[in-house]
Amino acid sequence: MTHPAAAADLIADRLVPFPKPHFLAAADLNPPFVASLLDLADAFVDLNRQSTKALDLLRGRTVLNLFFENSTRTSSSFEIAAKRLGADVVTMPVGASSVKKGETLIDTAVTLNAMRPDILVVRHGASGAAALLSQKVGCAVVNAGDGRHEHPTQALLDLLSLRRAFGDVGGLTVAICGDIAHSRVARSNVALLSMMGARVRLIGPPTLVPGDADRWGCEVFHDMREGLVGCDVVMMLRLQLERMDGALVPSTREYFRFWGLDREKLAWAKAGAKVMHPGPMNRGVEIDSDVADDLSVSLIQDQVEMGVAARMAVLASLSARLEGAA
Ligand code: NCD
Repeated sequence: MTHPAAAADLIADRLVPFPKPHFLAAADLNPPFVASLLDLADAFVDLNRQSTKALDLLRGRTVLNLFFENSTRTSSSFEIAAKRLGADVVTMPVGASSVKKGETLIDTAVTLNAMRPDILVVRHGASGAAALLSQKVGCAVVNAGDGRHEHPTQALLDLLSLRRAFGDVGGLTVAICGDIAHSRVARSNVALLSMMGARVRLIGPPTLVPGDADRWGCEVFHDMREGLVGCDVVMMLRLQLERMDGALVPSTREYFRFWGLDREKLAWAKAGAKVMHPGPMNRGVEIDSDVADDLSVSLIQDQVEMGVAARMAVLASLSARLEGAA
């Protein structure tokens, strides 16, 4: 275990300014920067495992968490990340805000912007919402999920979990399975994993795989067995019923039978394959508890831990860019 002061020095050495003014999509990153961001995140993992976790890298900065969609792990991990870096954090429960009184997304953002936050973390049900906001405000914007478009910090924490489990992500075969059509997690992961040299497969029923998915640079399978053979990683996605227009699956029981990950289906992947899920999980729908809770195969708890470290790395790096611009 590293000494707290040594951890702080290591973090200072690894801190690299973010390459863009905002973090809206995986494409805002590039391979050498991703590698250095993950190195920084590794140092935050060490810090987070110590009893004293506080740093002052973001002292004096204000981070606003603006969540227009429900979230447990993403909003709390951004909040913990910002607090551990010493920032002042305000998490806006949108249910209690003027949005409920009819104020538009842009009005809300412009109002909050006038309070001069440094970083605005936003989740919204409309694809493109974070990009739109970034044009209207004077602070750095982090996309914490916009509709079915992107969720880039999720892809980053997934990458961190994979790099720690496998050493290197280049050359891994990763299957992303289930409701691809409604998943921002899938889109960000395809972009980031491909950027870092992994091979990505998409597996799901034709109703839940977008028609243009073959142009994402991935192999597409409509059969779990065919798709899972030879995979190092099986990333399951939640069946996003709230985004579906009409019934795209006959029943959740039937869905589990064909597409739910259990021991039998996992055995089709490579021996030693790891299982991931961004959460929240529908147990017995897309994943069996027996697999999800088996720590010898499941990275699901690691993903949650890595979420805080990866978000600390993003916030610290965006703040370092703001420092440079000041
Ligand atoms: C994901 C999301 O919100 O896009 N969850 C998360 O961020 N932990 C995936 C999902 O909701 O299924």
